[in-house]
Amino acid sequence: MTFVALAHAVRAELRQEQRYAHVVRVARLADRLAARHGEDARKARVAGLVHDLARLYPASRLIAECERRDVPIADFERLNPILLHARLGAELARERFGIDDPAILSAVRTHTVPEPGMSRLDEIVHIADGIEPGRKFPERAGLEELAFRDLDAAMLGVIEATLAYLRATGADVAPPTLAALAVYQTRAASRLTLPPAIERSPACPT
Ligand SMILES: [Fe+2]
Ligand SMILES: [Fe+2]
Repeated sequence: MTFVALAHAVRAELRQEQRYAHVVRVARLADRLAARHGEDARKARVAGLVHDLARLYPASRLIAECERRDVPIADFERLNPILLHARLGAELARERFGIDDPAILSAVRTHTVPEPGMSRLDEIVHIADGIEPGRKFPERAGLEELAFRDLDAAMLGVIEATLAYLRATGADVAPPTLAALAVYQTRAASRLTLPPAIERSPACPT
């Protein structure tokens, strides 16, 4: 299926122009970020387009459709079924559109709740979903600029922005989010404490 044909199919599947406009913006930004960071832009674009296929399902349908497919449901997901739209979305991408590339499906699965061990493509789609131009929060433009320079730093920024939002709304924090936060905080801290000689070594052949 061509990308244009897939876009038409996704539009028909979502049946809501606002959500379709969002996934197109995520696909465009993920494409540009992938190209900038040497990742597969086509995979990033496809993942962006299909990431929210189950986003408009009500909680009862999310749980029922996951159970029907034996998709495991964690305790925090039972309490917050909206989180299931990411993993169910990957199932729908495979079933409805024949997308079976593990890298694309992984990026769809991790677009909502970050976790340790994400691939670069996972990070790109997660970041693109969090900071696409339709999002309105003060740090958005700065995070977009940062994402083109440094994916680790952008992941940390996006996770912190998510936590601030969850705190403000009184919502629960998914345990994998805190584990991912620790990963990116550790990376940021280790970069700050590297001795200058090590930091310079990639550019110095001796
Ligand atoms: Fe989503
Ligand atoms: Fe989204």
